Amino acid sequence: MRAQITIGLVLIIVATVVLLVFGGIGIVVSVAPAVLAIIAVGEALLSFGSYVRKAGKSVRDTLEPFLERKHLEKDLENLDDADERVLGLVPSIYVADSRRMYESAEYYVRKEYEQYGKLLKKLNSTKWRRVVFSKTMVRPCLSIYVDEDLRWIEYVPRDDGHSKLRVENPVLLKPCTCTIPPEYQNGYPCPMHSRENGDIVYSLMNTCLYEVHYGGVVVYRKKLPSLWPTSIDTLHFAKVIRDNKVRFHGVRSVLEVGSGTGFLGIYFAKEVNGVRELTFVDLFLTPLYASIFNFYRNHGRKDMSAVAVLSNGLQNVEKGARFDLVICNPPYLPLLGVRSIASLNAVSGTYLLEDVIKNSYRYASKLLFAYSSIATPEVEQATEQLKKHVEGIRTTCLAEHWVPFRVTHAFAKEGYVNRLVEERGEYMRVADASTPFRLWHKIYYVLVNF
Ligand SMILES: C[S@@+](CC[C@H](N)C(=O)[O-])C[C@H]1O[C@@H](n2cnc3c(N)ncnc32)[C@H](O)[C@@H]1O
Repeated sequence: MRAQITIGLVLIIVATVVLLVFGGIGIVVSVAPAVLAIIAVGEALLSFGSYVRKAGKSVRDTLEPFLERKHLEKDLENLDDADERVLGLVPSIYVADSRRMYESAEYYVRKEYEQYGKLLKKLNSTKWRRVVFSKTMVRPCLSIYVDEDLRWIEYVPRDDGHSKLRVENPVLLKPCTCTIPPEYQNGYPCPMHSRENGDIVYSLMNTCLYEVHYGGVVVYRKKLPSLWPTSIDTLHFAKVIRDNKVRFHGVRSVLEVGSGTGFLGIYFAKEVNGVRELTFVDLFLTPLYASIFNFYRNHGRKDMSAVAVLSNGLQNVEKGARFDLVICNPPYLPLLGVRSIASLNAVSGTYLLEDVIKNSYRYASKLLFAYSSIATPEVEQATEQLKKHVEGIRTTCLAEHWVPFRVTHAFAKEGYVNRLVEERGEYMRVADASTPFRLWHKIYYVLVNF
């Protein structure tokens, strides 16, 4: 196009020179090139205009989505940075031993939360989700496929279909013993790292975004301090939902407290017909973002609503709100007076476990929750307190499973596991040499009708 303009200008100059030099004769001779030149310049300008219009469109088309485009992995990382501030404060609520300490810790947590208000509002807007999530890039480095009856798990790295790993009769989603001190192992090589491709899969699960497929649901997760993974406990929980779905006939609204990736609520809504409303509660923003994103991926096109509520337990759930069911797979590590265990991870302590047992009746007529045998005393106490307020509760244990005790940060805290075994040994099992995992605890899945 530039060439056309240049040619046009050159022709005009030539025509003018010819006119001036050759006068009248030149007029005739120059008419043709002059006309041609004017046409050429005109054409050039016209095509330039359309080029500008086209370019404007193409810039908008290509750049804007790119600039707006979000990247799930990066979004989760950024949110987790924000959550770390709360992560440092929350444990002081759990270990506060005076009313004043509790209130001041709570005050600071609330202050941090205030900054999150705007994002939560967006997250709860269906339109915002549609616009933003449909443009969000999701590039998992690993796909994990879990058999619905938990007979096997297959790990498939995305960029190399050959280096997959298949584990039969899995006891954990990440069956690695490397972080367990030798005295709590049975002397086997690590069941994960000793397998071909085990180290690749392990490192992918620790470093980048991965997806977990189970029963027609897929959820995304990246290992971050505030985003609890879908674990073997979660998968057993899902199976309990599937095996007992007749009990949940008629459930339309579900409150999932401590939602993590949102897997349980999402799976429940997939498995039990008629669910129309999901409410996800978590103490952190990263899991809420993940829950809503995963909801959008699985149910976004259906006639179903999802809301995220940032809350310590049931505290911020609207008073007077009613749900058909509360679901909760809470942390279960008792503090046992070891204050520092609370500051290590989002999932220490039994605060949430006790809160849902004592207070779910205010919001629903059913509670489905999981707990570890090591938290039995806390569950019993909370149940006693509940009975003071509600008469005639019916409690049914729907399933129980022994699973290896492999809470990495519990082992990392010197002396904690010894204490756990001393104080809660009656609720644990020391396995014989037939398994690499020495310490086991039992996970119970319980339905409470209020
Ligand atoms: C064991 S994880 C379970 C996550 C998910 N429901 C699942 O089954 O995969 C417990 C979840 O509870 C959240 N949580 C811990 N303490 C909490 C509290 N006091 N209030 C609300 N959520 C809490 C954690 O952030 C985490 O997402």
